[in-house]
Amino acid sequence: MTNTGYFTSDDCDLDAFKTLCNQTLDPAQVPLATDVQRNVPIYDVAQFPDLLNNRFFKSEWAHTLLNGAGVLVLKNAYADTSAIDAATAIFTQIIADEKAAGANSADHFSAGTNDRVWNSLGKLCLADPETFARYFGNPAIQAVSEAWLGPNYQMTAQVNLVHPGGAAQQAHRDYHLGFQTSEVSAGYPAHVHDLSPVLTLQGAVAHCDMSVDSGPTKLLPFSQAFRAGYAAWRLPEFRAYFEEAYIQLPLAKGDALFFNPALFHAAGENRTTDVHRMANLLQVSSAFGRALENIDRTTMCRALFPVLSQLNLSDADKNAAIASCAEGYSFPTNLDSDPPVGGLAPETQAVLFHRALNDGMDAATFNAALDDITARKRA
Ligand SMILES: [Fe+2]
Repeated sequence: MTNTGYFTSDDCDLDAFKTLCNQTLDPAQVPLATDVQRNVPIYDVAQFPDLLNNRFFKSEWAHTLLNGAGVLVLKNAYADTSAIDAATAIFTQIIADEKAAGANSADHFSAGTNDRVWNSLGKLCLADPETFARYFGNPAIQAVSEAWLGPNYQMTAQVNLVHPGGAAQQAHRDYHLGFQTSEVSAGYPAHVHDLSPVLTLQGAVAHCDMSVDSGPTKLLPFSQAFRAGYAAWRLPEFRAYFEEAYIQLPLAKGDALFFNPALFHAAGENRTTDVHRMANLLQVSSAFGRALENIDRTTMCRALFPVLSQLNLSDADKNAAIASCAEGYSFPTNLDSDPPVGGLAPETQAVLFHRALNDGMDAATFNAALDDITARKRA
């Protein structure tokens, strides 16, 4: 950080990044792990019956995610994979139904032929609550979620299905700051870059056996600890280093992988001819990612817009008023109706508000555009 409290590309020292990522995980750092493979600690859930109430495991996982490898595997997270098979059948049907209905399930980080099910959490629950109960009634997943986020977390999930020949993603970081353009990301001060990863836990449940050839997630252990990483991951030299240094681990159906969302990672290329690689990506959010009060910002925007259109205020004053009134963040949203096509984050009320003032939009058009945003975001 160059004395400004903000990260820029000048803070992205590739040699320092390489030194960080060239570490070798000392098994003594993860004494509870069943195994360590390619710097990633592996925990065989079948051997540990009561992880949820075991603070030794939770502490080791928290340390691993924060300052260690940044990633861990829960082997046999599902001792009985029949719930996974039942969920796979439902997700496969949902994909077929949504394709038939012409849905556009764009991938965030790679164009191509992958299939997605946005909000696979809610869709599974409504399609088959019994399968949902068996699938998410998984104390090991609760344990790792609580290890990183504490209690009262907010589960979300999206299915990713990569067919034979499916392309790899580019290296990236994940939600929150990983979903923003570099310009938006650069506007958040350095300590918020430190905060972003502790607001989310990223996971993947393997719905089939995943050989390395089938393209399980490419990972760069230790990279989550690079503080300037949100300013670095789009830089060509960092992406090139990722391609040199990443690792992949084969997973079996019922295994689950969890990682710090700041870890540099990318879905791998599916080089098989016959494996349809399905993972249910879990994004678990901190309870704290919410404000104290529920605010009806849409109604407030309707009230404020005609006033700001006419009132003789400076642009700076108007901007400050909009910042207190309009929703400035794209999430949470409904990714089916508000997908990230052509960019990472859908338009916010605040961006619309500025656009409307700049364009001299009339109130009726502005209100209709606000209604569109509300409709697209509706669960
Ligand atoms: Fe990702």
